[in-house]
Amino acid sequence: MRNLVMALVMAAIGVSASGQTAVKEPAAALLPPMGWNSWNHFANHVTDADVREAADELVSSGMRDAGYVYVNVDDTWQGKRDAAGVLHPNERFPDMKALGDYIHSKGLKFGIYSSPGAKTCGGYEGSLGHEAQDAKMYAAWGVDFLKYDLCSMQDDMRAVRAAHPEDPMAEYKFMIAAYKKMGDALKATGRPIVYSLCQYGMDEPWKFGPGVGATMWRTTDDINDTYQRMLNIAYGQVGLGKYTSPGHWNDPDMLEVGNGGMNTEEYRTHMSLWAVLGAPLLAGNDLSKMTEADKAILMNREVIAIDQDKLGKGGDRVLQLGDFSVWERPLSGHRTAVAMVNASVSGRDIPVEFAAIGFPKGAKVHDVWAGKDLGHIRVLNETFPGHGVMLFIFSE
Ligand code: GAL
Repeated sequence: MRNLVMALVMAAIGVSASGQTAVKEPAAALLPPMGWNSWNHFANHVTDADVREAADELVSSGMRDAGYVYVNVDDTWQGKRDAAGVLHPNERFPDMKALGDYIHSKGLKFGIYSSPGAKTCGGYEGSLGHEAQDAKMYAAWGVDFLKYDLCSMQDDMRAVRAAHPEDPMAEYKFMIAAYKKMGDALKATGRPIVYSLCQYGMDEPWKFGPGVGATMWRTTDDINDTYQRMLNIAYGQVGLGKYTSPGHWNDPDMLEVGNGGMNTEEYRTHMSLWAVLGAPLLAGNDLSKMTEADKAILMNREVIAIDQDKLGKGGDRVLQLGDFSVWERPLSGHRTAVAMVNASVSGRDIPVEFAAIGFPKGAKVHDVWAGKDLGHIRVLNETFPGHGVMLFIFSE
């Protein structure tokens, strides 16, 4: 019933039921956006200097050349609006245009954050009532990416629900219209700006996202730097692969690789899963303190190539047996990326019959993390370490 009503709501505001085709416009990101975001490490303490340092590190570490180009300032950059409604940054961000210029001078792109509500999740100024004004200002600053986080709009939604007891979908119409308002405002600037919805995966943003002009949409509540949370998010992506296409990306949240809460094997699992899902890869660590292991994970070219495959299809889980799971993503050139995840804390010998994962004739197998070819096989007999992963490319 609710799905039906959602479809009617979306039709009413010009979004098709599938959400995929009603509004056809040039996609701002034909491949999953890659870069860095301040939130996971710096949270609400981030400064202009931290962001500039991240830009420098993206270049010196080689991450920019591996594809990580967006430098995204998350929540807490905002100050107050003046009498004309113009939003100024706070004292930690003296000059946003200068920051954007600095980022661009390094061959990188500039991302920013706001909310459709009056307040962001950190309690800073949101864009409610100032959408067009803010979008123009972002464009003038050279912004290339906007994360638009629901936050206090949830209070407005509750108020709409209370005011319209006769219409159970009133709050959703209101929310979708708010996201579309900013999508339209960004489009009106004429500057290609990746539009990233952050709505915690409530109300199926993968369906209404494309229709409001979004490039990507969060499919989940926040990640944190633990194996269990990362894995639970991955499990929450099951069935969503079909909503990914070039320019339209499911976003299971930013990377935690390098933040210290998981071990190398666990971070490798995180990176493998995000690549096989075709997720945006937004590093969230302190780039000035990366270990060699962090760099090897974040900059593995073959893993990045899986994520950035030009076919642009999503990946999905094809097998779950206890805490062992197999995930697949179709790649260009009739290849398939295959991630096998041992979520058990203990190491295990796991024989995998390829017939059980969609390859009855076997496949030519390349082990991505080991960087070696295993030949044409029908059964894999491997010892998986606890919380371990194997990532392969299968070809015929
Ligand atoms: C959350 C969001 C996080 C981060 C934070 C900032 O709602 O999911 O990714 O942006 O707000 O306050």
